Amino acid sequence: MQDRLTLRQPDDWHLHLRDGVMLQAVLPYTVRVFKRAVVMPNLDPPVVRTADAIAYRKRIQKALPGGAKFLPLMTAYVTENSDTRDIEQGFETGVFVAAKLYPAGATTNSENGVTDILKIAKLLSVMSRIGMPLLIHGEVTDPTIDIFDREKVFIETVLRPVIEEFPELRVVLEHITTADGIEFVRDAGRLVAGTITPHHLIINRNTLFAGGLRPHMYCLPVAKRERHRLALRAAATSGDPSFFLGTDSAPHPRSQKESDCGCAGIFNAPTAVETYVQVFEEEDALENFEAFASLNGPQFYGLEPNKDIITLTRKAPQEEAPIIVSGEQVIPFRTDQRLYWSIAYD
Ligand code: NCD
Ligand code: ZN
Repeated sequence: MQDRLTLRQPDDWHLHLRDGVMLQAVLPYTVRVFKRAVVMPNLDPPVVRTADAIAYRKRIQKALPGGAKFLPLMTAYVTENSDTRDIEQGFETGVFVAAKLYPAGATTNSENGVTDILKIAKLLSVMSRIGMPLLIHGEVTDPTIDIFDREKVFIETVLRPVIEEFPELRVVLEHITTADGIEFVRDAGRLVAGTITPHHLIINRNTLFAGGLRPHMYCLPVAKRERHRLALRAAATSGDPSFFLGTDSAPHPRSQKESDCGCAGIFNAPTAVETYVQVFEEEDALENFEAFASLNGPQFYGLEPNKDIITLTRKAPQEEAPIIVSGEQVIPFRTDQRLYWSIAYD
């Protein structure tokens, strides 16, 4: 049995770091293992302009634990009034690595998102020309569409037509939750990729209701049926360069999760790498873990893989206690499953 795994240092291609005291509290969990992360722009107010991203990046750098060499990769929150010139310049000057599309109302802080993708056609054509990736929260928001069908319907009614209209556009379908999403990305060619979270590899929609309502298992897109989870596991561990690691770690205070209208988001940074590697072992695919965690993402974004090497060893990690932010708990992702890989710091 293999007890050690060495790989290029991984990156997180989808991360919510928040701001202020929450940023300060959650950042160490990412920095302990990831070299870079694509930082989501859904702050309140959102990160819309290049200047917003430069200021936010400074706050992240200031919050870094001493000595940490971590690179936040910034994204632009697309609104219907986005300044195309500013986004283009932000990309050309290396501030933005991508722009993020939130359908208006789809998820946390998406109120300023886009109601109709045709309204950003000009931006999409500029992004196609300059090779700037569009990162997509792929769910329709029509309340008459069943919540478990929102990703599938988005793919058919929005994503497929957009890619036909803009065949040169680089697209990442973020946090894929369905077999439909997997199939779409797999067959869409080298300009379309997808991220997969650790929690969607572990939970299905039954988990949300196991013994009662489980608010800490609630995120968007919501976990789907078991057959979708199995399709995600097969894709993530396949070595296919279209799929890479994106945790979607999304911390919220406990009181906002355990509430009459609990908010979406799972804080998985404390256990993300440990969870992913365990899934790869369960799927008998440890040899593909480096591609998923450390190579496929940089390749899609046109970046070099990291030079540093990390080692994982077979050893139960310390149980992560809730963290305290402004006197409130933030609960890390945890299931009944026991983790048995740890990061070796030597
Ligand atoms: C994210 C958040 O809390 O910012 N929540 C989530 O459930 N994933 C937003 C998002 O990525 O949808
Ligand atoms: Zn997210």
